[in-house]
Amino acid sequence: MNNLSQKRILLGVCGGIAAYKSAELVRRLRADGARVRVVMTAAASEFITARTFQALTGEPVLSDWSDDRTGMDHIELARWADRILIAPATADSLARLAHGRADDLLAAVCLASEAPLMVAPAMNQAMWRHAATRDNVELLRRRGVQICGPADGEQACGEVGPGRMLEPQALLQALSDAFCSARLAGLKVVVTAGPTREPIDPVRFLSNRSSGKMGYAIARAAREAGASVELVSGPVLLDVPPGVQRVRVESGQEMLEAVLERITDCDLFIATAAVADYRPAKPAQQKIKKPVADTSLQLEPVTDILATVAALDHRPFCVGFAAETEQLEQHAQKKRLRKGVELIAANRVGNGRGFESDDNELLLVWEGGTCWLPKDSKARLAHQLIEKVASLYPQRSNKQISSEYHAKHSA
Ligand SMILES: Cc1cc2nc3c(=O)[nH]c(=O)nc-3n(C[C@H](O)[C@H](O)[C@H](O)COP(=O)(O)O)c2cc1C
Repeated sequence: MNNLSQKRILLGVCGGIAAYKSAELVRRLRADGARVRVVMTAAASEFITARTFQALTGEPVLSDWSDDRTGMDHIELARWADRILIAPATADSLARLAHGRADDLLAAVCLASEAPLMVAPAMNQAMWRHAATRDNVELLRRRGVQICGPADGEQACGEVGPGRMLEPQALLQALSDAFCSARLAGLKVVVTAGPTREPIDPVRFLSNRSSGKMGYAIARAAREAGASVELVSGPVLLDVPPGVQRVRVESGQEMLEAVLERITDCDLFIATAAVADYRPAKPAQQKIKKPVADTSLQLEPVTDILATVAALDHRPFCVGFAAETEQLEQHAQKKRLRKGVELIAANRVGNGRGFESDDNELLLVWEGGTCWLPKDSKARLAHQLIEKVASLYPQRSNKQISSEYHAKHSA
């Protein structure tokens, strides 16, 4: 499950130019599995219609007191929400919230709700800098309201300065962080993902069917669990998960170097990349032309990244992946012992399973236990895997344990 899956988000939309961006935010929240209800101020209807939000959420949109059919809809909504985000939050609405007013539906819902409140201010830079707005924002902050942004930059009015609403992606991340399980908070995680390409000549290479989807989902899940995450990725066509640092590589050797550069202060290493086992021993410097005298390809082994990291003096907690076509558990146990790692996640590949698919199934194998994660989306499996890693990773305060763990394994 990702952080936003099934979360009940109440989105308040106020009367500002940035209201059009809220439609995109709703779309992304829904794509991440959140349940979204929208309350608009009367002024917001001048900028975007309720119908847009109704279509995007599949729920009725409340704007005016007359929309409160039972007279208690606003209280019910206030209780329903896991979290309220007002985006855009106008100067006027911030003033109403700061002073505890309930003279419009959105302000009344906020006042009646015990859900945490986040606001994404959006206004002209002079309005944002005004002492009245500063005081209102400070008052809200002191009461525990999370102020998201605003960003600096060019404004709709032509001025430049602070007051731009954060982009939908940044607000999505802020909401996701707010639901973060914090199981890996304070830890540094390095994840490898995707295939590698081992050159035959400047235009040809040996590679494999890995899409990188599992590794990217794991990087995202680790980030959502509060870790700082670096993703060393082979060539794939995937977006960088929010909040994750990505470095792109091509060959297994480049991946090894990128991992070793980042591993010194790393707490967890999760190797999902399908690194080539062998590479052409003598890649041609120029494109190989027909006819070739010798059609055979001389191969040499590629350094095993997981085994190299697991053998380091100051090694992180290591998680490896095993793609197998048969005898899953036996091969996974052997691989775990051979590489000397804490956890192996084994998946069956071939016949449309594993590679390139959005779903997967995993057998987790560690010292003294196994656990079957039945077929599910890679996003949900990634969260379950991270939960397991968090439970196996030595508990207590993060960095301290990490140094104890390193000390133990380097002894
Ligand atoms: C074209 C136009 C754009 C506006 N943009 C903003 C804005 O970005 N931020 C803001 O605080 N107010 C803006 N206002 C003023 C608000 O719409 C006005 O203060 C209104 O009372 C806000 O009501 P609400 O907070 O209930 O939505 C704008 C007004 C107009 C006419």
